[in-house]
Amino acid sequence: MVAGNWKMNKTLASSSSLINDLGRELAGFTLKENCQVVVCPPAIYLLAVKGLLEVHQLSYVGVGAQNCHHLDFGAYTGEVSATMLQSLGIDYVLVGHSERREYFSEQDSLLKLKVEKAIDNGLTPIFCCGEKLEVREKNQHFELVKKQIIESLFELTAQDFAKVIVAYEPVWAIGTGVTASPAQAQEMHAFIRSTISEQYGSSVADNTTILYGGSCKPHNAAELFGQTDVDGGLIGGASLKAKDFAAIIACL
Ligand code: PGA
Repeated sequence: MVAGNWKMNKTLASSSSLINDLGRELAGFTLKENCQVVVCPPAIYLLAVKGLLEVHQLSYVGVGAQNCHHLDFGAYTGEVSATMLQSLGIDYVLVGHSERREYFSEQDSLLKLKVEKAIDNGLTPIFCCGEKLEVREKNQHFELVKKQIIESLFELTAQDFAKVIVAYEPVWAIGTGVTASPAQAQEMHAFIRSTISEQYGSSVADNTTILYGGSCKPHNAAELFGQTDVDGGLIGGASLKAKDFAAIIACL
């Protein structure tokens, strides 16, 4: 899977141009079997983007939100729930992106509720985890990522866990131009898979999609995706440029 996280970028007009350009870049392209492409625009553009993808022969591209509330409805001014997303026909939702953790104080216990709510509403959560630089420097990155996964995901039944996509995004690599080396990504992805295997068994673990995110660009995507346990990427900056995003999709 390649998923594009637009974050808080684009106007309606520039979202439209991006999809238009993506349609041109991907004209004649056939996505390999078992591969998926998703775009996660700001919530306010979800429906428009969904419609534009169809217009530009990109209806195979899924649409995801960047966040959801952990309850269905209520007095939570400004929030959008998984139930609402489902009512728009949205298929995916990012949960626990490091920017949500950092700037909106989202903790593992809250993210657990969000993941569960997403699944209850038939959405596929793309659960993000990853360590900050100081944690890696103290060599505590495996422990931290394991804790994030255990606390937010491991109360799910095996059947529900199988609906989750995991994205490993080392915070020090996000938007910095510094990418984890393919070896560093592989090492952590293998660790995540073995952590999943301990809880749910090897068949669930082997079937879990684990994405890498953090300065993934056209020039490094092929090598990252070539690692045994890297099943694709969660792309920030490069997903805002049609040419770059198409080039990364072509690495699947
Ligand atoms: P980046 O962002 O590709 O711009 O580093 C990745 C992300 O935050 O998902």
